[in-house]
This record gives sequence, structure tokens and C-alpha cells, in this order.
Amino acid sequence: MPLVPYPLARPFLFGLDPERAHDLTLAALAAIQRTPLECTVAAKRIDDPVTLAGLRFPNRIGLAAGLDKNGRCIDAFGAMGFGSIEVGTVTPLAQPGNPKPRLFRLPEANALINRLGFNNEGLIAFVRNVRQARFRARGGILGLNIGKNAATPIERAADDYLACLAGVYPYADYVTVNISSPNTKNLRDLQGDALLDALMALICRRRAELVEEHKREVPIFLKIAPDLDAGQLERVAATLRRYAIDGVVATNTTLARDAVAALRHGQEAGGLSGAPLLAASNAVVAQLRAALGPGYPIIGVGGVTSAADALAKRAAGADIVQIYTGFIYRGPSLVGEAARALRDWKNTT
Ligand code: FNR
Repeated sequence: MPLVPYPLARPFLFGLDPERAHDLTLAALAAIQRTPLECTVAAKRIDDPVTLAGLRFPNRIGLAAGLDKNGRCIDAFGAMGFGSIEVGTVTPLAQPGNPKPRLFRLPEANALINRLGFNNEGLIAFVRNVRQARFRARGGILGLNIGKNAATPIERAADDYLACLAGVYPYADYVTVNISSPNTKNLRDLQGDALLDALMALICRRRAELVEEHKREVPIFLKIAPDLDAGQLERVAATLRRYAIDGVVATNTTLARDAVAALRHGQEAGGLSGAPLLAASNAVVAQLRAALGPGYPIIGVGGVTSAADALAKRAAGADIVQIYTGFIYRGPSLVGEAARALRDWKNTT
């Protein structure tokens, strides 16, 4: 049982500017993790193991990338019962991100809009933090999510991904190649046929070298946007198959605004996440599942704010279900609720 239940902490946090609330919470979690105070946020991890891409996930609920961009709080989140945690997006060099304000709550819709722009402390600090974490030793699966610096021209994007891949490789259970943030200029262009093909070719070649170097094959996942049409998704699926990419993370935030246009902050630029994303994101998961077949690893993310939503995403075809915005609105209790529902669903189907 947490010391301060989230329903009591939330009004205080929601009274603050969203990014300030986020920074304060992460600072507190970083301070208590790996100390006796870690038990104040701890909950029993639901045991529901599943093997995916050769990795044994202790349960089907994961923390989505972007909540812990620098990998500072991996053990605190691990203590809350996540079976897997994805941290990043990390870029080779530290960068400040976009001007503030750049994170907005849309509470009527259980949603957020962000245009943070990969603010992070860079690869060296990231690796230092990740190396301190005990989550993997405690049986958790750690995904490290990589991107490119804003200042790197898109034609040189591969250089950044390859530098990050090599830097994080020894410390990752899996690596996610994030080409789907709407907040870095032209990044999503990398999802286009020719650019994606070229990037995947380079990543696979580098990975083959890293397998030799480290004597370990770390799965690569590709994280895609929910705003791709059916034809684009079909071609992404073909590229995943062509390069034997180990899995896909679907989806990132959306540029669509139809569901929130009339709400306060509904027209802010950036990526929309949370409840309004669920249907579109599940549709992408379902199309990928149909295109890639039953055994292909799919991490589903987007719009899960309840155990029922997690089940819907699993029914759409996701093997693992990640959460971000739902966690902000519902707090750590969502982790156990959703993991338990997914475990029990398996037993009833
Ligand atoms: C994100 N997300 C994200 N994804 C990613 O791959 N790298 C990142 O750095 C970030 N940063 C980020 C910041 C903020 C404030 C939000 C809300 C989201 C996207 C996230 O991992 C997830 O894909 C989407 O938010 C959809 O899931 P939810 O939030 O609807 O559960």
C-alpha cells in the first residue's frame, strides 16, 4: 500500500504546471528508489510470464517510453509492478527540447498533448543511469528507446541511431528505434518506404556487428505512429519482415485532434495521447497483427486508461500493453489492475 495513495496525491500534482508536476514526481522517485523508502511506492508484481522475441516478460504490462526519458527512475517504476519498462527516447547529445510550455493536460478527455521534442541529458548520462538500475536483475525487461538530435539533419539521422544503438546495446533487453515522434522536424518521414528501408538496412548491419562484439543478440523493435494509412502500414509490415526486425511498438502519439478540438488545450501543437487515441491505436495493432501473423511480437500502446482498455488492446493483437497517459490519470494502481486482467483473460480464453 503506498504511503500517499495516488487519489490524494493527484489533486496536488494536477494543481501544478504539468511539466513541473512531472519533474517533481521523478525527482522524488529517484530519491527513494533503492532505499528502504522504495516500499512506499511498491506493489506486488503480477506474475504472468510470457516469452516474446526470446525475452521472458514477467507480465504483460509495460511502462511506455518518454515518462522516464533519462532512465533515472527505473527501479522505482519497477517496484510498482511493471513487467517491462521502456526508457528514453535518448539522443546522442543532450538537448533542451522545445520551448515551454510544451505539455498540456486535457482532463475532460483523460488525455495529454506534448511537444517536448526529446528533451534529454544525452547518451552518456542515460547509460550511466541505466547501469545503476537493478530492475533487470529483479527479472524485469528493460527496453531502451533511441532517437536523433534535433540539430542532426534528417539525411544524417542514421548516424544518430547507430551511435545510440551501439551505446545502449550492452545494457538493453530490447532496443526501440523511435521514428514516430511528431515533435522532431521530419522524423516521421523516416517511416516512408525508401528512408525506412535504408535505415533498417544500416541498423541490421550494425546490430550484426554488435552481436559479434557482445556475444548477445538484442532484439530490435520499431516504434511507429498511429497516423499511417492502410497502405503505409502494409509497407511498414513488409519492411519489418524483409529485415527480420524482431518486433513493433504501436503506437506513438497522434496528430489527430477530432476528439478534443473543442476542449481547452485541444488545439495545442504536438502529439495527443490518452483515451482519445485508443481506437486508432488498436486499429493499427489489429492491422499489423493481420499483416504479420500470430507469432510476431507486437507491443501495443496508446489510450489504455483502464483494465478493460488493456484487454481491448490485447484482443486487437498486442502481446504486451504499455501505458503512459493512463498512468498519469490513474496512478500506479492501474499497473496491477491491468496486469491482473490480462492474466485472468488468458485463463478464460
Ligand atoms: C511520449 N511518448 C514518447 N514515445 C517515445 O517513443 N519517446 C518519447 O520520448 C516519448 N515521449 C513522450 C512524452 C509524453 C509527455 C507523452 C505523453 C508521450 C509516447 C508514449 O510512449 C506513447 O506511445 C503514447 O503516449 C501513447 O500511449 P498513452 O500515453 O496513450 O498510454
